[in-house]
Amino acid sequence: YDVVIVDNLSNSEQTVLDGITAIVGTCPDFVQADCTDASIMDALFSHYTDIVGVIHFAASKAVNESVEKPLLYYRNNIMSLVTVLEAMRKYKVHNIVFSSSCTVYGQPDAEHLPVGEDAPLKKSLSPYGNTKQINEDVIRDEAYANSSLRATILRYFNPIGAHPSSMIGELPNGVPQNLLPFVTQTAIGLRKELKVFGDDYNTPDGSCIRDYIYVVDLAKAHVKAVERMLNQNTDEQVEVFNLGTGCGLSVLEILHTFMRVTGTNVPYQIVGRREGDIEQVWAKADKANNVLGWTADTPIEDVLLSAWNWEKKIRQ
Ligand code: WQD
Repeated sequence: YDVVIVDNLSNSEQTVLDGITAIVGTCPDFVQADCTDASIMDALFSHYTDIVGVIHFAASKAVNESVEKPLLYYRNNIMSLVTVLEAMRKYKVHNIVFSSSCTVYGQPDAEHLPVGEDAPLKKSLSPYGNTKQINEDVIRDEAYANSSLRATILRYFNPIGAHPSSMIGELPNGVPQNLLPFVTQTAIGLRKELKVFGDDYNTPDGSCIRDYIYVVDLAKAHVKAVERMLNQNTDEQVEVFNLGTGCGLSVLEILHTFMRVTGTNVPYQIVGRREGDIEQVWAKADKANNVLGWTADTPIEDVLLSAWNWEKKIRQ
């Protein structure tokens, strides 16, 4: 597909385009703009008259930042989606893929683990998670009012890793909040030690369990979702898919596997629990596997190595 990237660069860098070009051989069109800016979005949709679909990931995503700056998260995450949907309605663009999150499930009850798309949603513990729940409702309500809209909601579990070429990867600003970038920065010597937030949870080794999904596998699911809508392989206006491996791994399992496959030591210390963390969640991925025809099948060892290779590349 020909792609136009719209990004306000608040949490990314334009050099990413060089990496994309090195991988795919062509440079996608890039528009530096904020998706909450209705006039720019209108100009963009009137300029690109052959848009067949939108993949909307433009959102702030740091859970603890959202607790400190809720208005930034409600404005950015909700108004960017509303603005994009308004432009899509005006210019008759019918297909959208939306980046949601397993955060909408909160801490699933034991009988709902692994968690399926039909599991009950729980009130989110953070404004970030709440914006995802609200945005899913925005999409459903717009679809009800606009019968030509098709939407695929992808609930990401924990995206990790980098492209195998090490040309593009995760670039967290400042101190990483997420586990793997903190691990790789500690392994390379940028950070003194990893703090493991709690080993007194009701899990086999006491640390929290998550479903870590390779970001490249995640990307492939988006292409599948666009294709499914373009080929109109469903009568449903709105479909929801969990994007996970179906396998839960603990913080300590990730840490020890990383050290084993990279041959590096990662100094760490067990500290108290992090506020807002849930204990354990991992996906029931059957629907994405069987309906979307997509499976996250990259071995965790390769995923962790991709993150390590990327860390070494950017610190050269
Ligand atoms: C994973 C585990 C931490 C850092 C959040 C969002 C989710 C998604 C990913 C956007 C937890 C532990 C972490 C550290 C640690 N966001 N940890 N030491 O919180 O599961 O999910 O980020 O896509 O929507 O909710 O991810 O990577 O922050 O934490 O022990 O220095 O690692 O306690 O158990 P999380 P995470």
